[in-house]
Amino acid sequence: MKETKNIETLAIHSGSKHWSGSKAIAAPMEPSTTYEHHVEGHQDGDFIYSRYENPNRLQLEQLLCSLEQGEAGAAFSSGVAAITAMFMSVPKHAHIIIPNDLYHGSRSILENFADRWGLSYTSVNTTDLEAYAAAIKPETKLALLETPSNPLLLITDLEKTIHVAHQKGVRVCVDNTFSTPYNTTPISYGADFVMHSTSKFLGGHSDILGGAIIAAKADEHFDAIRMIQRKQGSVPSPFDCWLLARSIRSFPHRMRMHNQNAWEIAQFLASHKAVQQVYYPGLSTHNGHEIAAAQMKGFGGMISMLINGDQERALEIVGRAEIIRRATSLGGIESLWEHRRSSEGDHSSTPENLIRFSVGLEHIKDLTEDLNRALA
Ligand SMILES: Cc1ncc(COP(=O)(O)O)c(C=O)c1O
Repeated sequence: MKETKNIETLAIHSGSKHWSGSKAIAAPMEPSTTYEHHVEGHQDGDFIYSRYENPNRLQLEQLLCSLEQGEAGAAFSSGVAAITAMFMSVPKHAHIIIPNDLYHGSRSILENFADRWGLSYTSVNTTDLEAYAAAIKPETKLALLETPSNPLLLITDLEKTIHVAHQKGVRVCVDNTFSTPYNTTPISYGADFVMHSTSKFLGGHSDILGGAIIAAKADEHFDAIRMIQRKQGSVPSPFDCWLLARSIRSFPHRMRMHNQNAWEIAQFLASHKAVQQVYYPGLSTHNGHEIAAAQMKGFGGMISMLINGDQERALEIVGRAEIIRRATSLGGIESLWEHRRSSEGDHSSTPENLIRFSVGLEHIKDLTEDLNRALA
């Protein structure tokens, strides 16, 4: 549903009036797994058992729907649980399209389970509309998009790609983890579903593991996703829901600063002699810059760079920073970077000299000093 309020207001107020008992301003947390039945045996209120539904999860799902302009949402125990549910929700023998460059864990789900689930898939460059259209088969039911992609920060034109898919009856799910609803709302470009690793910018403090699927329409396909969430039990705990909803209250302001710091750092890196190439959609040299400028409010907090040198040199640089911590994951208030290929493992096609950088909210001068130290 199209919201008329701005994201800063929605993040603070959406889902906050669900609590019936007290008039608490901050949401209470309800850990109970089960709810008392009516004396005649049937359920007495909205809740039965917390795998099925819980007030904190309901509040979180409403909040996520309002940020992403969807009609229905399902929260999961991780981003991977959400994407797994998305893939499981398509009919048997369906074909799925995934981008060439995407979170390696999403590809790995299909590599490991597509056969068992009777699915097939094709990996394609989603920035190339012709190649994308050609990859669609009569049995294609779902296309996954990631923009900016992980880790190469490729930009896919949402409007055009979704249009091509819809013309051929294919539903589209956009992994909006990197862009976040602060920068892009894929449903407003026609996406059928948006998914998130809420462990990243939405959680924002590297202390919650979570995922979500938000649907443009509360239709039968969403009912299938809801059924998988409940039957499989891949649900976040009440505490994780409570903490995530609490964290989202300040998410738009964090995101604005992630955008700003990353943009300044991308420019700094682009003129640094130790750096061969910077992948950041905010730079006018980026292949997808024009599309990004049209479909993103800010360019996000993620940067990838190719450094001059090999894997050893990349690892050396990553190890030399004092403020930027050496760790995988992203989207937290603290800057993190990693030699991405080492994290992805043996099958990775990520260049050996690529460093992926999640730009945090430290003061920009401290970050650039740290970068100068590390890249020296
Ligand atoms: C773009 C993207 N999608 C999904 C995931 C998976 O999320 P999670 O780690 O919460 O399972 C990640 C994790 O890094 C990611 O970067």
